Amino acid sequence: MSSLLFTFIWLVCILLVINSATSNETSAESTSPHIIFIVADDLGWNDVGFHGLDQIPTPNIDALAYSGTILKNYYTAQLCTPSRSAIMTGKHPIHTGMQHNVLYGCERAGLNLSEKILPQYLKELGYRTRIVGKWHLGFFKKEYTPTYRGFESHLGYWTGHQDYFDHSAEERVYKGQNWWGLDMRRDMEPAWDLHGKYSTDVWTEEAVEIIHNHSRKEPLFLYLAHTATHSANNYEPLQAPDYILSQYRQIESYQRSKFAGMLHKLDESVGKVVAALYETQMLSNSIIVFVSDNGGAAAGFNLNAASNWPLRGVKNTLWEGGVRGTALLWSPLLETRGIVADQYVHVSDWLPTLVSAAKNKTFLSSNIDENLTYQNGTGSEIDGQDAWEVLSKNKPGTRDTILHNIDDAWQIAALTKGKWKLVKGRTYNGTWDFWFGPCGKHGSDNNTKPYNPHLVINSTAGRAIQNLGFQFDIPTMLELRENATVTCGDAAEVSCQPQISPCLFDISNDPCEKNNLADRFPEILSQLEKALAEINGTAVQPIDKPCDPFSNPDNFNHTWSNFGDREWNEWELP
Ligand SMILES: *[C@@H]1O[C@H](CO)[C@@H](O)[C@H](O)[C@H]1NC(C)=O
Ligand SMILES: *[C@@H]1O[C@H](CO)[C@@H](O)[C@H](O)[C@H]1NC(C)=O
Ligand SMILES: *[C@@H]1O[C@H](CO)[C@@H](O)[C@H](O)[C@H]1NC(C)=O
Ligand SMILES: *[C@@H]1O[C@H](CO)[C@@H](O)[C@H](O)[C@H]1NC(C)=O
Ligand SMILES: *[C@@H]1O[C@H](CO)[C@@H](O)[C@H](O)[C@H]1NC(C)=O
Ligand SMILES: *[C@@H]1O[C@H](CO)[C@@H](O)[C@H](O)[C@H]1NC(C)=O
Ligand SMILES: *[C@@H]1O[C@H](CO)[C@@H](O)[C@H](O)[C@H]1NC(C)=O
Ligand SMILES: *[C@@H]1O[C@H](CO)[C@@H](O)[C@H](O)[C@H]1NC(C)=O
Ligand SMILES: *[C@@H]1O[C@H](CO)[C@@H](O)[C@H](O)[C@H]1NC(C)=O
Ligand SMILES: *[C@@H]1O[C@H](CO)[C@@H](O)[C@H](O)[C@H]1NC(C)=O
Ligand SMILES: *[C@@H]1O[C@H](CO)[C@@H](O)[C@H](O)[C@H]1NC(C)=O
Ligand SMILES: *[C@@H]1O[C@H](CO)[C@@H](O)[C@H](O)[C@H]1NC(C)=O
Repeated sequence: MSSLLFTFIWLVCILLVINSATSNETSAESTSPHIIFIVADDLGWNDVGFHGLDQIPTPNIDALAYSGTILKNYYTAQLCTPSRSAIMTGKHPIHTGMQHNVLYGCERAGLNLSEKILPQYLKELGYRTRIVGKWHLGFFKKEYTPTYRGFESHLGYWTGHQDYFDHSAEERVYKGQNWWGLDMRRDMEPAWDLHGKYSTDVWTEEAVEIIHNHSRKEPLFLYLAHTATHSANNYEPLQAPDYILSQYRQIESYQRSKFAGMLHKLDESVGKVVAALYETQMLSNSIIVFVSDNGGAAAGFNLNAASNWPLRGVKNTLWEGGVRGTALLWSPLLETRGIVADQYVHVSDWLPTLVSAAKNKTFLSSNIDENLTYQNGTGSEIDGQDAWEVLSKNKPGTRDTILHNIDDAWQIAALTKGKWKLVKGRTYNGTWDFWFGPCGKHGSDNNTKPYNPHLVINSTAGRAIQNLGFQFDIPTMLELRENATVTCGDAAEVSCQPQISPCLFDISNDPCEKNNLADRFPEILSQLEKALAEINGTAVQPIDKPCDPFSNPDNFNHTWSNFGDREWNEWELP
């Protein structure tokens, strides 16, 4: 080889290295946007700083909020399974049979295999599809699990919760018995080796590794469904590493201080994921969604200590505290950023919204299938509406009606139309129909420090976002925060007994549901009743199966397993 050619090759190599080392995050990509969908479990309205909470800092989540779009009127389902079914299908749970309760590990049931789900849509658009964390949409047969439904890999669990250290799920399911078993899998294989490692760290490390491994020539869909801040098993419901707990000793309620530790780790995870996207030069071409699956489990509900203050109710009620979810959408591809969007958005809207963004030609140069259509599953088209255009340009919303749920088994239903909300029936005999704190504001106790926007700017996520060129401005951040905070207004208190007669609220002026206007506006009440009855006519029967005794983890080396994959004989019962 001539020395000249040799030198030339070296020069090219050096130039290439220099080029890749200095290439800026803002450099254009040739793929559809990466979609990182982060689900927090049972996180309350008042469990993020950007909704006005001072007590527990969430600087990384707040950094995304102030540089993205805060969804102030985001409505989700009242429980985990229904909410995740809507994310995956773009349909309301009443149209997939997922409207009643959650799926328990012992049930011979799952999200209908006739449903086409989000990773399958995105796969058709060339996406790599990965899930990390919680599934909760059925596993009695292997066909119901994520890697058979469009996800390429799954490190995570199939039931609704797990112990944060031993990764077992205990469910009180069968004739009053507690069934207990490992619920941690690498794809289909039990992952006993992760014993002792904190769940949030397991998910975070996996997500970061997926991002680092990913070739940014292809679009990535990463669905990251956290364990936090759901409670673990009854024997130790609230768990966080001791070194974190020591930072929250000043919180008077021991339960809330442990909740703070769980939330701290969740927020830290968001920072690490954003940093990984930045390091791999994917951030500038990413869409990040951060949502809670349902309202918070407050004041001892599910042995947990979330807060929905000042909203009424908790998880598994149809009050605002049960269904008005924490949510933000972040992306440099949004035309308007740093806003509080007050358009109605429903959990079923994510599917068409994200598919629409994935297909948006202005973001990419690759070939995509423009003809992709939404599949009709269990008798109906998707319910979700494409909100990309609305949210990306902050245009007036197109959605006017939100069905919260119709569950005839529990005799509850609620519907919002315009500013009016109809509430019928109640769960738990009304025990959780109140307002549960803490309000978590500086001044409400002796230990809560004032909100510190510098923490947000200097958070891991905050620094990555600034490296992309976004500039935080403290007065604007504080104004966004104020705009995103719910204040109750001065509505009079008029009692509501929804188990006796339907209640009516003016949600825009009375978001805290104090003033029942059913007697004052009978015509509006009957209009909403009529709208509800119409929607009810389209509902399908809930898929709700009794506990199958063969599902007992003791039949499977103490792991929750695909018990429906084979036939069982009576004598095999444990
Ligand atoms: C990342 O890539 C390495 C090397 O190919 C592989 O061993 C590892 O399993 C990958 N990690 C994930 C989370 O996919
Ligand atoms: C695609 O994105 C661009 C830029 O945000 C926007 O102007 C356009 O309306 C979008 N198109 C669709 C079909 O959503
Ligand atoms: C979409 O459908 C039209 C009309 O049927 C067809 O001409 C076109 O090739 C299709 N595009 C793709 C990408 O398949
Ligand atoms: C699943 O969907 C199919 C097709 O729509 C329907 O025939 C079937 O009854 C559904 N199964 C259940 C358990 O609802
Ligand atoms: C889906 O079903 C509805 C009626 O159930 C029908 O109006 C619609 O055209 C169908 N859509 C597709 C894409 O097949
Ligand atoms: C429900 O509460 C009422 C009083 O508020 C009580 O009389 C009734 O026994 C309770 N029912 C159940 C099933 O707990
Ligand atoms: C602060 O502490 C003092 C003394 O312990 C107590 O009297 C007061 O009620 C506390 N204030 C609040 C807002 O908790
Ligand atoms: C910002 O964060 C870094 C790393 O966490 C820390 O070392 C530094 O002291 C912080 N700076 C300020 C001004 O808080
Ligand atoms: C990347 O772009 C940002 C904003 O335009 C700039 O501040 C930064 O210095 C650039 N980084 C590199 C490595 O060129
Ligand atoms: C906050 O809300 C007010 C009133 O709607 C509005 O004028 C202002 O622009 C908002 N602030 C920000 C930073 O969006
Ligand atoms: C919905 O329809 C079913 C069947 O017709 C009926 O039994 C139920 O009471 C209705 N529920 C509501 C909330 O209207
Ligand atoms: C239980 O574990 C043993 C030993 O690893 C294995 O041979 C057996 O197949 C397992 N049984 C089930 C039902 O998974």
